[in-house]
Amino acid sequence: MGYKVPFVDLPKHYQELEKELMPVIKDVLFTRADLIMRGDLKEFEEGIARFVGTRYAVGLNSGTDAIFLSLLAAGIGKGDEVITVAHTFVATVAAIHFSGATPVLVDVGRDHNMNVDLIEKAITKKTKAIIPVHLNGRICHMKKIMELAKKHDLAVIEDACQSLGAKFDGQTAGSIGLTGCFSMYPFKILGGPGDGGILVTNDKAIEEKIRLYRDHSLNRKTMEIVNFGFNSRLDNFHAAILNVKLKYLPNWIIRRREVAKIYQDGLRDVKEITLPLILDENPSFHDVFQNYVITCKERDQLAGFFTENGIETLISWRIPMHFHKGLNLNHFKLPETERISREVVSLPMNTEITNDQVQYVVETIRKFYKK
Ligand SMILES: Cc1ncc(COP(=O)(O)O)c(C=O)c1O
Repeated sequence: MGYKVPFVDLPKHYQELEKELMPVIKDVLFTRADLIMRGDLKEFEEGIARFVGTRYAVGLNSGTDAIFLSLLAAGIGKGDEVITVAHTFVATVAAIHFSGATPVLVDVGRDHNMNVDLIEKAITKKTKAIIPVHLNGRICHMKKIMELAKKHDLAVIEDACQSLGAKFDGQTAGSIGLTGCFSMYPFKILGGPGDGGILVTNDKAIEEKIRLYRDHSLNRKTMEIVNFGFNSRLDNFHAAILNVKLKYLPNWIIRRREVAKIYQDGLRDVKEITLPLILDENPSFHDVFQNYVITCKERDQLAGFFTENGIETLISWRIPMHFHKGLNLNHFKLPETERISREVVSLPMNTEITNDQVQYVVETIRKFYKK
């Protein structure tokens, strides 16, 4: 079904970049056939490291692997506990599970991010790491998290898959903990032409371990396989496309903040809905709005009204993660996570959306509430 306002508009996104992308695609595929671990990947890694402000960046095949390999490189595994949230994409918790460690889930706060006041109670002798998830383009309260990590000697692995470019007190998401993990999934702020991810770090030893893990742990200088590794390389072809897109990222973030401002100005008097925390209310936070998420009691009726009016929205996540029987996490009690799952709906947010389309979404919500 064609929507009046799609949630994202990837054909339009790529059409706008077509002139610039076509020669790159031709060059990489038809002239050079540079497909695995070539110069475009190196250029992308350098570009991301510069953008985030870390010494190193390693391209991987997904954000999931960035989290998983971070845990492995930090020496975390069986018998260890890792603290994170349930209000995240399942990948965060799956990465902990596959490292062999046990996920310990804490509730979230008003900003839908980890409630930092609940972390200390969750720490035990087995705790080895915290994975704060910077959801929807807003960074977690990293000052408090880093203080706790220091006090209890824990590694901090930032799941920044939804927050490339977000800042807290001038520090960029992903650059604060031991590692930062980003996703280049096509819907992300910087999405590639398929799956992709990148890990950033300032730690040389971690960078070296990740470079090995992603390439079957083959030391290409000595040809020694130093341990059992994985195949988790970011494709060079994807990196070439991402290099073109990276130039636009600062402007795209500005545009996302503009769209958020239109939503905010048009909806702030609709008392039945809760908006994301007000832009610039706390100047420590610089949000990049991967998603614009509202909550309301009558979420399902509102979501139906959006569909009737040709607006595509997304519910992340309707079933709280700890309610999925197959994951064996139902011993956690997370009232705020559960409430958010009942009330949450993400409005269309992308860089192709026009002001008129944003205004139409605003008017539709106002019509629903008879404002
Ligand atoms: C919060 C969060 N964590 C992890 C991931 C996993 O990233 P990927 O899909 O690249 O594996 C995603 C993205 O989908 C995400 O949104």
